[in-house]
Amino acid sequence: MSRTEEGFGGGKVILLGEHAVVHGVPAIAAGVRRGVRATAQPAPEDVLHVEPWGRTWRPTQVGDEQLSRAFDHVLAFYDDRPPLRIDVQVELPRGAGLGCSAALGVSVLDAIDKALGVDRSRIALGTRALAWEKFFHGAPSGIDNAVAALGGLLRFQRPSMVSRITPLRTLHLVVGHSGERSSTKDMVAWVARQLRERPVSVNRKLDEVRELVDEAEAALQFGEVLALGQALDRNHRILRDLHLSTPRLEALCRAAKSAGALGAKVTGAGGGGCMVALAEDPDHAIRIADALDADSFIEEVGRAA
Ligand code: PMV
Repeated sequence: MSRTEEGFGGGKVILLGEHAVVHGVPAIAAGVRRGVRATAQPAPEDVLHVEPWGRTWRPTQVGDEQLSRAFDHVLAFYDDRPPLRIDVQVELPRGAGLGCSAALGVSVLDAIDKALGVDRSRIALGTRALAWEKFFHGAPSGIDNAVAALGGLLRFQRPSMVSRITPLRTLHLVVGHSGERSSTKDMVAWVARQLRERPVSVNRKLDEVRELVDEAEAALQFGEVLALGQALDRNHRILRDLHLSTPRLEALCRAAKSAGALGAKVTGAGGGGCMVALAEDPDHAIRIADALDADSFIEEVGRAA
């Protein structure tokens, strides 16, 4: 091992099925171009340095930092290796529903694999990164690490059923950030609590999401963007009923819809973080992004994504 190797894990937006996916319902997510890049190179001791947070961790100084414990855990996967310095560049906001921690895990493992000459498929890399993700989210469904490794448009069902969806038409998505940070672990626990306290009504919602995911998958395959937009709206109402939206996210969804978005919803864990809106074409996406008055980006999800 002589040269610096780069690994990559992508961010994601969940189009349909967040939270429901934790309870065994399928979900549809799209990888985004932004993500996390990690380099691995031989060093006198193991070090993980994360930009832009300006933080450095060493496994020998394990505290309660989730990141430090996750790093320590994944390093133990590799026997008989030289000490490594891992430098990470994060392009995703934390606690925003864009899969930052999973992208981090995938990029770190990818960089280490490459540096040590470990030949692992992207799908196996995603599965491996679940061990990392568990330090952050307790009992994650696995969707974030699967999309972080594979990218593109995927249908996912736990524990590890992943299939690619080929959309007939390119999707024009606008992702708007509420500026509010949330904890996926807390939001997942909050939904689990609602499920315990109101099993009949919450299970009915989960069944509805299951139907929406099937409808949306067909809409993607047949290029029916209006039907897809309606599915996003209906999924948003379910997330709102589960108290996963916030006044700021509601305002962003309303602004997107007023600008003609075909659908708009909370994406990811909710309780803050991001919303995603579906636009008709690239110009429309720009108009929606302008109407949001928030940090936003436009993502195209195409046939070859
Ligand atoms: O908010 P994020 O990017 O961590 O996404 C969480 C997605 C959930 O469905 C809420 C949790 C999970 O593990 O699938």
